[in-house]
Amino acid sequence: MSVTIENLVTSGTFSLDGGTWDVDNNVWIVGNDEECVIIDSPHDAAAIISGVRGRKVLAILLTHAHNDHIGAAREVAHAVGAPIHLNLEDQILWEQVYPDATPDADIADGDEFRVGGATLRAIHTPGHSPGSTCFHLEQEGTVFTGDTLFNGGPGATGRSYSDYPTILTSIRERLLTLPAETVVRTGHGDNTTIAAERETLAKVSQ
Ligand SMILES: [Fe+2]
Repeated sequence: MSVTIENLVTSGTFSLDGGTWDVDNNVWIVGNDEECVIIDSPHDAAAIISGVRGRKVLAILLTHAHNDHIGAAREVAHAVGAPIHLNLEDQILWEQVYPDATPDADIADGDEFRVGGATLRAIHTPGHSPGSTCFHLEQEGTVFTGDTLFNGGPGATGRSYSDYPTILTSIRERLLTLPAETVVRTGHGDNTTIAAERETLAKVSQ
């Protein structure tokens, strides 16, 4: 049985280290007619809830805890009755948005989330943030990479809690080792493929 993958783009701002930037974020909804999971919950709770179309939401999976990926998470979670999952190495970032609450569940490397007969497997890819996590949907030949890997290369590592050598290691060892034809669905902007990003990364300095 296959699942559908729906994309929603919401707009708002990203703030860290005293700066604020306008951003468009991808939301990914993976499921079938009865149930789904939501990957990231940025900016616009109403738009995300509308995208669920009344289906049972099994989980809200967060790729990391930058405010532009989690700003609507609690409102969506409350509305649809779903738990929020986050690698708790990003707790320090989560607390900047929600100082008085914690996520419902930790995500560890290798955790599996079943939806519509398919399985999303968590891949811990630190670097953009300590807890950054990708979700591999092997059955559909795709991986959701958040801000770890974009069309054109690695995510940003210039601000607090990021580390460039760490993100390069994560991408090279955990993502570029996936099948070449794997479609990469990112946290911002267009899709790419593992094959295309192997070429990009071959040009990137150590
Ligand atoms: Fe980010």
